[in-house]
Amino acid sequence: MLEARGLVHHYPGGVTALDHVDLAIPAGGRLAILGANGAGKSTLLLALAGAIRTDQGQVVLDGTPVTHDRKGLTRLRHRVGLVFQDPDDQLFAATVAEDVSFGPLNLGLTAAEARERTAEALAMMGVAHLADRATHMLSFGQRKRVAIAGLLAMRPGILLLDEPTAGLDPAGVDELMQRLDAVADTGTAVVIATHDMDLANGWADRVAVFGRGRIVLDGAPDTVFEDEVLLSGLGLRLPMLHRLASALASRGLLPAGPLPRRLEDLVAALPPLR
Ligand SMILES: Nc1ncnc2c1ncn2[C@@H]1O[C@H](COP(=O)(O)OP(=O)(O)O)[C@@H](O)[C@H]1O
Ligand SMILES: [Mg+2]
Repeated sequence: MLEARGLVHHYPGGVTALDHVDLAIPAGGRLAILGANGAGKSTLLLALAGAIRTDQGQVVLDGTPVTHDRKGLTRLRHRVGLVFQDPDDQLFAATVAEDVSFGPLNLGLTAAEARERTAEALAMMGVAHLADRATHMLSFGQRKRVAIAGLLAMRPGILLLDEPTAGLDPAGVDELMQRLDAVADTGTAVVIATHDMDLANGWADRVAVFGRGRIVLDGAPDTVFEDEVLLSGLGLRLPMLHRLASALASRGLLPAGPLPRRLEDLVAALPPLR
């Protein structure tokens, strides 16, 4: 379990990026942190991963505050992985296999164990065939998946991803989200920061909405998306499927209960045509 408690962070120039943020990330599940550009999502992920030290507040891992000394940060990095928005900020080795095995080797695992972890992580991201390729020869989407594999090879309990679908084509988005689903199914908590409301609606089991450095809504997607006025004030638009499902439900065309969040579920819930 990873928690932000009362995080406050200012950047030079007087920007308040985090304004008393409390957020609890349980040991599993799919969480989307939603917010417009500049809302503070990236800053929060950097703080949760120990990459920046906030002005106030604490990051708490399994009940113990994270200290910013070597011991504290090592403890955090064994459990929490952060995938940067730009894979080129993450990849550094000449080949894919070298890059992904760096983390496990750094954990002190043997070469054989590191090889096994590397093969497993590459397979999980669907890039096992790229193991011997040069990292700089890969497409953007491939580099993204290799960067994620590099963190999975550490077997983190919590994987944080900053705008993981940015720059991917629609098929690439679908494939990545399916692979992240499979990661979540292994019990790893998967947290994505995004402004893509449609993506969050179909994928997350919980959404936390960020506005001007604060978490303003936190809960199940269909509960959070009821607050259209608040969301539009934060520069966010309701997911298209949520709007459609609400409209159909208000006309009595959907059964009572939670609104469908995937197109195929919506279609299946419609009454037969007369
Ligand atoms: N390195 C930085 N220096 C100064 N201001 C920054 C820096 N990084 C982010 N900011 C500012 O902090 C606020 C939050 O940014 P960020 O966390 O990147 O938001 P998001 O990821 O939601 O777009 C924004 O106003 C942004 O301009
Ligand atoms: Mg960002």
